[in-house]
Amino acid sequence: MINIEAAKNLPIENRYKYMLLLLEGQLSSEKNIYANLSNASAIIYAIMDKLNWSGFYFMREGELVLGPFQGKPACNRITVGKGVCGAAVAERAVQRIANVHEFPGHIACDGASNSEIVIPIIKDGEVYGVLDIDSFEFNTFTELEEEYLIKFVEKLNKYIDWTQL
Ligand code: SME
Repeated sequence: MINIEAAKNLPIENRYKYMLLLLEGQLSSEKNIYANLSNASAIIYAIMDKLNWSGFYFMREGELVLGPFQGKPACNRITVGKGVCGAAVAERAVQRIANVHEFPGHIACDGASNSEIVIPIIKDGEVYGVLDIDSFEFNTFTELEEEYLIKFVEKLNKYIDWTQL
């Protein structure tokens, strides 16, 4: 049982540390990749404030295809280089966007999104996909959120063999 309630009243950075502990608990106790990724997206959604979407896209035949997520139904496929997710893959770099409406080519899967952060999933030099988080408020993602979401992906990388997806 994943205890989200325990995080409720913690100071923000402790809450993010707890988020990593929950992920570690999940990944160290379950082998199934879909169970792990589904709960990974749910852990972020439950712990972080002001979110309307959190989830994964994975590379399939040269484009990004929707993976496990929390939130409203989303675009199934994203072309590399297009939108915030496509930019993260093309540039192999985190995209932390204060106002998505100012991002050229932003793909509005959910009209409620106003800011977004996308972490590319790169292991042994290969880009396997992205972790995409959307917020209904502007400027939600600071350096602190970026730091902990990078750690989140590093932990996923430690446990998950992306070639088995
Ligand atoms: N806004 C993203 C598309 C994915 S949805 O936010 C879930 C983008 O521009 O890449």
